[in-house]
Amino acid sequence: MDKFLIKGPCKIKGQVAISGSKNAALPILAATLLFDKPVTINNLPRVRDINTMLNLLRTLGSQIILSKDKKSVTIIKKERKFFAPYSIVKQMRGSILVLGSLISKYHKSIISFPGGCVINGKSGRPIDYHLSALKKLGMQYEIKKGYIHAKSKGKLKGSIIKFSKISVGATENAIIAACLASGTTILKGVAIEPEIQDLINFLNLSGCMIKNIGKRSIQIRGVKELTSIKYSVMPDRIETGTFCIAACLNQGELNIKNFNPKLIQTELNLLRKIGAKIKTSKNEIYIKGPKKIKNLKNLETKPWPGLATDLQAQFMVLLCKAVGRSTITEKIFHSRFIHAQELNRMGAQIRIKNNKAIIEGETKFEGAEVISSDLRASVALVLAATVANSTSIVTRVYALDRGYEKLEKKLRKIGVNIKRIS
Ligand code: EPZ
Repeated sequence: MDKFLIKGPCKIKGQVAISGSKNAALPILAATLLFDKPVTINNLPRVRDINTMLNLLRTLGSQIILSKDKKSVTIIKKERKFFAPYSIVKQMRGSILVLGSLISKYHKSIISFPGGCVINGKSGRPIDYHLSALKKLGMQYEIKKGYIHAKSKGKLKGSIIKFSKISVGATENAIIAACLASGTTILKGVAIEPEIQDLINFLNLSGCMIKNIGKRSIQIRGVKELTSIKYSVMPDRIETGTFCIAACLNQGELNIKNFNPKLIQTELNLLRKIGAKIKTSKNEIYIKGPKKIKNLKNLETKPWPGLATDLQAQFMVLLCKAVGRSTITEKIFHSRFIHAQELNRMGAQIRIKNNKAIIEGETKFEGAEVISSDLRASVALVLAATVANSTSIVTRVYALDRGYEKLEKKLRKIGVNIKRIS
């Protein structure tokens, strides 16, 4: 498996263009199963998870025509298949997003329980909210030998669904499934992450009738069919946040292009608090890291518009360099702290108490051989290596390739001494 060799410390300076959002593209691709006519999706990030979703769509009978640069895809339905095998679904939890499409369009599906990043310890990553929302719309299911065997008596029927906890994926699955249901569906207690709005924009452009009817409520009027469209996926807010943090670690300076700063206001305000200078315009962020990084107490990850759990690991690296003690409480995936152990091996002093990380500041990171685990933990190790005072090897960058497009190329361009070793 590939490794990264990173010679720190590096001074970051330059310009970065943000790629399409993985977490917006995945539900949009899953929703293409609702269409009979071709759909074109632009601004796809070239990352492993997108390939996995395209493979899954192929297995489900779609023809996939990729552009030369692989950033655009036209998806044409050729056959109606409804079996989503373990061999593909185990690679990515987002695969479960095809269940809403399959049950809504074909009224049946056999899909393996999903895999994905191991970020929630013993609690795992259940899909009970997905299943109970779809059940409310008329899906019946049985679980046999690791597979969900689902069916419905014809069309799904609009219903009122109240989520007991905010879930990004379950909200997306329910929205997708309700588009072709008969009647009206009301979803309450939904996630409102920008990626969900991107899915809604895509579906509405295709003729769906989805409306936000309150802060966390959505109304979906079922339609008969979707019309053929071309759609461009939103840029990636987690990649944007990652580069903003990279710039702050060692008094770096970056112009980040192609991203609407309003979508990461919470994180930018936190970076202002640690001392960063930030200027924003419609589609660009200028950020300059401070001489001395100020600590932050009582940070908590929360659903959007709160601090993103997908930026928790990167913030942890930054706070290791701050003056004084900081804390982060992880409220979404309670034990998403695998990176802390590896950061400690590089010289950090982080203690974990239940779902809280206590981070002592002024760490002088030492280069070390560290192992990547989940996607965001991996990028946190890369960030730490950019400011370590010798060479680090970040192994198993497989996880990182799932969600960051050409990370090493982009980092090299802004001054990081990084090499991929196959
Ligand atoms: C999405 O995962 C993202 N993945 C994750 O990004 C992100 O960390 C997460 O949302 C939170 O923002 C994609 O968009 C593909 P959830 P998802 O359902 O939908 C519990 C990354 O690094 N829960 O909002 O799986 C769950 O265990 C990834 O890019 C249930 O208990 O997250 C968690 O504690 C990793 N039952 C909480 O809800 C369910 O049926 C929120 O999870 C569903 C979720």
